[in-house]
Parts: sequence; structure tokens; C-alpha cells
Amino acid sequence: MNQSENTPYYSYSLKKIEENFHAFQSAIPGVMVRYAVKSNPMKEVIETLSKQGSGFEIASKTELALLLARDVDPSQIFFSNPVKNPLDIEYAHKKGVKVFAYDSPEEIDKLAQYAPGCQVILRLRVYERGSVFSLKDKFGAEERQAATLAKQAQAAGLVFYGLSFHVGSQSLKLNTWKYALEKIVRVQVQLRERGIEVMALNLGGGFPYVYRGMKAPTIQQIASVIKPYLKKLGIPNIYAEPGRYLVANAATLTTSIIHRTVRRGDTWLYLDAGTYNALFEAMDFQGNIQYGVSAADPTSTKKQKYILAGPTCDSIDTITEDARLPDNLKIGDRLVFEDVGAYTNALANSFNGFKQPKVLLD
Ligand SMILES: Cc1ncc(COP(=O)(O)O)c(C=O)c1O
Repeated sequence: MNQSENTPYYSYSLKKIEENFHAFQSAIPGVMVRYAVKSNPMKEVIETLSKQGSGFEIASKTELALLLARDVDPSQIFFSNPVKNPLDIEYAHKKGVKVFAYDSPEEIDKLAQYAPGCQVILRLRVYERGSVFSLKDKFGAEERQAATLAKQAQAAGLVFYGLSFHVGSQSLKLNTWKYALEKIVRVQVQLRERGIEVMALNLGGGFPYVYRGMKAPTIQQIASVIKPYLKKLGIPNIYAEPGRYLVANAATLTTSIIHRTVRRGDTWLYLDAGTYNALFEAMDFQGNIQYGVSAADPTSTKKQKYILAGPTCDSIDTITEDARLPDNLKIGDRLVFEDVGAYTNALANSFNGFKQPKVLLD
């Protein structure tokens, strides 16, 4: 049988997700986790985290339905997308979701109409230089708007619960958390002066995964920045919404080489999985994540440089221009990408008719 008939496939280790969950909780004691479903919505991932006691963060009605189908308690779910479809708000409210994010007066109007009396968390825009995927322009209220937006929520009959931020996904600079938390300290003072107590702080997501060759702070280093602020703030309920951190190392992707050729001096390997059907974040303009990659069954110790590309007819379906792999790779040989548990299956499509990888569980 041609080896490529079995590929591409993901191999999952759900155990790693359990370990990551506990590592996260022990790094930031007392933090209540709301796993960001968007990073990997697989039912097995949801079940694994649910069993460990995790709550969840959703962006849409569809993500909520996924959780409800797995018997997740709606009171453990945050609807943290600051801009929601009114129909989704209505559905979530009916199903028992209590906590919703907002960052604009218009969202308050929607929430008051479709989820009357709900608890709200105000998302603040934070300085986030150094994240691979920035979130600072599309979302987040300005610091100077905070008190007005909190008052407006209360006037609309909503329960002002607290504050949140998101430092951007795969945030690589420790100072980002420091600046964000200094802002929270200032806003807490402003709100207190107006008689509003911050009962909850949501630290958001953005906790990086240390991909092979990438310099990123560890969760312990981030926690050492966060913890003194949490002490100073004294906010009774601390949450976080990690996505990537919990799932990134839970999967590998095995692909087959379907073509090898030399173009203008570069050796290209074309694979049966690429940026469309699996490795979206490897795209140049979409993070350019350089996943660790190796040959499944190497037969040469001599390495050479390759460009790795996916199977579609698009140029952006190029995974990396600098893979160092055995020099004798040929059609039918397999390559294994590491740490592909986050934002892969969640973002994949079957463009050009190339199937998405199967899932094998440990
Ligand atoms: C509101 C919200 N929370 C959490 C996350 C998870 O972020 P990450 O996977 O970087 O931890 C995201 C990702 O975009 C998000 O938009």
C-alpha cells in the first residue's frame, strides 16, 4: 500500500492536556480556568478539561452547543467575545450562561435586551507589543471609558462583575502582563471612587507555548509577574481563559511527502497536509509559526534545507522555507510536525478537495 493512503493524521495525547491544566493552575494558585474552546473544539478535549474541573470560554452559540452536548454546566461558561450576535446572546441566556464580556455601549444595549440582568465583565484594551497574534485594535475599551461603561451597564440593569483583558495570542513579552495589570490597578481605583467594586478579574488568554526554537516566557515566569499584582488588587474571583497553552503540545501531525523537486536552487517537498487543511498559523501573514518537524523514519544522518509546502494550488500553502531534514527524503516518506494541538483543526478547511487530517487518540 502507498504510505500516503494513511496520512495525514493527528495523534493526540489527552494526558498532556490534563498535565497542562494542572501546571497552569499550580502556577497561578486560585485561578479559575475558562478554557478558550476556539483553540481546539474537539469533543475529547472538552471532555478531558471538563473532567479536570475546567470551565470554558466561548465566542459563539455553536461553541456553546458543543459544550452543552457534553453536559458542561452553563454557570461555568463565560461568553467572552466582546461583540456578539444578538441571537447568540439570547440563546446563551436561555441556556443559563451568566457571564458576558463587553467593551462598548452598544453591547450593553444588546445584553440588556437579550440577557437582562446578566453579569458583565468589561474588557480593556491593553498594550501588547510582542504578541504573535495581536488583539489590541479590534477589541477593548480605553481606560478613560471604564467608569462610564461600568455605570452604563449598571444603569441598564446588568450586574457589573469585573474587568478583563487579552494580551494577544502567543504573547512573548513578560512586560505585557505587567502593563496590563498596572492598568487594572488604576481602573480599580477609578471604579472604587465611583462606588463600584471589581469582583472579578479575567486575565484572558495569550499564555504562550514555547514552540521549538521560539523564545517565549514560561508559565512560571508569567506567574511571577502576575502574582504580586493579584495580591495588591485583592479581587476575590480570578479567572483566565488559556487556549493555546493548554492544548498546543497535545498533538502531532503525520504527513506524507507527495512530491520532491528543485526550483531555482531550492529543494521543495510537497506534503499531503499544509496550511489550509491543518497548519493555518504556519502561514507567513498568520503567525509564521515554525513547528518542529522531523522525518518519521530517517535513513540518513546528513541534513539539508527544504521548503515544505502543502498540497493545494496556492502559494500561501507553504509551511516553512527552512526545514532541516535528512537529505534523502523521497515520495512516500513521512514527516511529523510537533505541537500542533492549538488553532489547527479549529481553523482548517478542505480547500481544493484536500481532506483534513484524521484524529488518532492515545
Ligand atoms: C476572548 C478570548 N479569550 C481567550 C482566548 C485564547 O487565547 P490563547 O489561545 O492565546 O490563550 C482568545 C483567543 O483569541 C480570545 O479571543
